[in-house]
Amino acid sequence: MDTAIAVVPMGLGHLRQVLDLGHQVFDTTTKPYTSWSLTAVAEHLDSPDNACWVALDSDRVVGFVLGSMEFEHRNDWGYLEWIAVAPDMQGHGIARRLVDVCSTALFARGAKHIVTDVEDRNSASAALMTSSGFAPAATVTLLVRANPRNAGEDADPTVPPLPATTRRDLARRGRLAVEHPRH
Ligand SMILES: CC(C)(COP(=O)(O)OP(=O)(O)OC[C@H]1O[C@@H](n2cnc3c(N)ncnc32)[C@H](O)[C@@H]1OP(=O)(O)O)[C@@H](O)C(=O)NCCC(=O)NCCS
Repeated sequence: MDTAIAVVPMGLGHLRQVLDLGHQVFDTTTKPYTSWSLTAVAEHLDSPDNACWVALDSDRVVGFVLGSMEFEHRNDWGYLEWIAVAPDMQGHGIARRLVDVCSTALFARGAKHIVTDVEDRNSASAALMTSSGFAPAATVTLLVRANPRNAGEDADPTVPPLPATTRRDLARRGRLAVEHPRH
């Protein structure tokens, strides 16, 4: 464990670095119903029961976890949705500390269970979560049927065609990956 790294509640002053670190490490194409954006962060941070923490090396955000008591329609389940550690700081137990502090906060807020979803090729995340006490509860396979009219076109096979308003609404709520210009 790296004791020089402080784990503190996330505040607005950390937003920029959290957003940048997420863009650096998350591959949201593996779960095409998610997208990493300011909205994705704000959805957790805005929640009155949020459990959002950052790991700091002096002023630098080297890791974060975003959790809240907002999992679909379950008000007794906590949700640990996003966790990341900067590549040069991985392997020092920082993610484990972030999982533990977030889980402790969510249990204290009344969570009977904490949910997290792990893409099955993300072996680091799977090992982190299983060794932190998470156990598989259900397996959901994302099945996609392509529109035959798009055959031969350069369509993204993982994203079914959606009406523009639905796409916008899903993207706004962080449920659909969309291309954002990076600043
Ligand atoms: C997953 C991630 C957060 C782990 O961060 P980390 O600080 O390196 O993890 P820790 O050092 O705390 O490791 C804790 C445990 O996780 C597991 N683990 C971490 N990295 C691993 C890897 N590359 N391979 C296998 N297991 C790994 C180990 O079980 C480890 O326990 P151990 O040290 O007792 O063996 C980091 O790899 C990351 O940011 N990945 C990209 C973002 C991501 O995929 N996030 C999850 C989806 S939201």
